[in-house]
Amino acid sequence: MTAFRQIFVCATPGEGRCGAKGGEELLEAFRSEVERRGVSSSTILRNACTRRHEEGPVVFVFPDDVWYTRVTPDEVPRIVERHLSPFRVES
Ligand code: FES
Repeated sequence: MTAFRQIFVCATPGEGRCGAKGGEELLEAFRSEVERRGVSSSTILRNACTRRHEEGPVVFVFPDDVWYTRVTPDEVPRIVERHLSPFRVES
């Protein structure tokens, strides 16, 4: 069984912030990917600004404590697979 995990995606609007760097599209890409996989939509959450938008858009995975920076929609399937796959190997 996969442990409870959540993926926080920053899509905060504003000049130079994650929303202006594709954060909103990224959030939608994560939501679509989990829906496609039959994973609960509650695993994807909109994150507040964490002051890392210079590297944005940023994604944080709880409780794995993994950050992804400058994330593009192409990377979404790989991130979801890595953290939310039921076949994930627990470490
Ligand atoms: S707006 Fe995303 S970290 Fe600040």
